[in-house]
Amino acid sequence: MRARWSILLFCASAAQLACSSPLSEAEQVRAEAPSSVVRSPLHLARRRESGYQPRHLRPEEFVVAPVDDDEPHMGKRDGVTAPDIGQMATFTTENPEPTRLGTGFKFLGNSNHEIDKQNVDNLAPPTTDQGSIVNLKWSMSLSHTRLLNGGWVREQTITDLPPSKDFTAAEIAIAPNAYRELHWHRVPEWGYVLGGNGRLTAIDEDGKFFISDIRGPTNTSDPDIYYFPSGVPHSIQALDEGLELLLVFPDGNFDALGTTFMLSDWFARTPLDVLAKNLGISDISILSKIPQKDPYLLQSTKPPPPLGHASDEAVTSPQGTIDPSRYVFRLADQNETIAAGGGGWFKIQDSVTNFPVSQQTASALVHVEPNGLREMHWNNNDEWLYIISGTARATAFGGSSSSRTFDFQPGDTAVFPASYGHYVENTSPTEPLIYLELFKAPKFIDFSATQWLALTPPQIVADLLNISTEVVEGFMKVKPGIIA
Ligand SMILES: *[C@@H]1O[C@H](CO)[C@@H](O)[C@H](O)[C@H]1NC(C)=O
Ligand SMILES: *[C@@H]1O[C@H](CO)[C@@H](O)[C@H](O)[C@H]1NC(C)=O
Ligand SMILES: *[C@@H]1O[C@H](CO)[C@@H](O)[C@H](O)[C@H]1NC(C)=O
Repeated sequence: MRARWSILLFCASAAQLACSSPLSEAEQVRAEAPSSVVRSPLHLARRRESGYQPRHLRPEEFVVAPVDDDEPHMGKRDGVTAPDIGQMATFTTENPEPTRLGTGFKFLGNSNHEIDKQNVDNLAPPTTDQGSIVNLKWSMSLSHTRLLNGGWVREQTITDLPPSKDFTAAEIAIAPNAYRELHWHRVPEWGYVLGGNGRLTAIDEDGKFFISDIRGPTNTSDPDIYYFPSGVPHSIQALDEGLELLLVFPDGNFDALGTTFMLSDWFARTPLDVLAKNLGISDISILSKIPQKDPYLLQSTKPPPPLGHASDEAVTSPQGTIDPSRYVFRLADQNETIAAGGGGWFKIQDSVTNFPVSQQTASALVHVEPNGLREMHWNNNDEWLYIISGTARATAFGGSSSSRTFDFQPGDTAVFPASYGHYVENTSPTEPLIYLELFKAPKFIDFSATQWLALTPPQIVADLLNISTEVVEGFMKVKPGIIA
């Protein structure tokens, strides 16, 4: 009796998944060519003022499962009622408990309930989770924040998230008109404007001059991305609103000696007579007040020309100038690629497609509609994620019957190691999920599970999965990308 109930509920609630019949012709057309995806004006907000929705987000159908009073260990404390198909647990108790359908037991002692609430899939994991996959997420809110005269910075490096070997990240805020001082790196720098506006300057190895404004997101447009290859020396200045950036470096061990070089630090560590001679200064006292400790961020003594007037500050180089488009990529000028699955859109940036300089970083800005699903897929390189807004749930499959489910909030970074199968689901019924996928690669590449099955002789798939060939023939032959 129980078993039949379970199957019925399973089919009712997960119609599009395990129990689906092939998509009707009309449905297929709709799925492959959605007429339009409405962009919520809120979708660009980095962190919603009201905070995120609670996690009581499983589909309505699961909630109506009858409470089985005969089941000895089941009670109101349990996070899941039958059938348990791996759904996120919900709790009627004030705080979530480490219990699930009769397994586990309530807390008798203390726990950090706020962290538990944000990570219900850690506390009452889906029964589909198994094995010993290591932690794959880090919250920037757990990073040490350096407060400086002119802003702040916090990082996620390999010591915070050891599996993230390909990328280190920093969030950095620069107060109005303040500078990130002149510096260069052993590795490239990929930047994404989270808020405000700023101005970049640089030179290349030929002595050509570069200057460009960078713009943050507005209600109607996506922000700028920039990329400086290894060694290219640069500065960043905030304009009148201030500037907040996500900086990503394709090297997990970014804080190692020999990675970042500040000009003022170098000068302070050089004999003054050599420095004077090098710069062609005959009176050494002119250099007596140079900083003895690099400031990292510093205030300006005079506001820069406003946004849109970068050329007012341009320096004439006898070697020529660099067009802003060499180092700055304007997401706002790129059309959204609507996902065939009808659940959102992408904007992909990589060196092969549209941004030649970014040879070591390919990215996708991903917009997942409420309850939408970034499809089950894998990549050839580690996939590094950053959650801009919304909430998400994702399961990493590491092979060998191992998988682990994570929950995400804004400011979270995460890594899916190369080849790990994974999905990312928007857990909110009302808010879009906006996040970034990054790869240390010249081109954005992914493999779709659905497309693979659709492009395999149906009998092979039918025999493996014990489903009918008709069901297999309904799978999408183009990548669904994001499923509504
Ligand atoms: C942007 O959207 C927010 C929220 O909808 C609104 O309060 C704000 O006025 C909008 N700003 C502009 C410049 O339209
Ligand atoms: C964006 O789409 C419009 C309308 O289809 C087209 O005219 C324009 O060239 C596209 N822009 C880019 C950068 O592809
Ligand atoms: C396939 O499913 C049916 C029930 O629908 C079951 O009887 C059968 O044993 C399954 N076959 C395999 C190979 O698991």
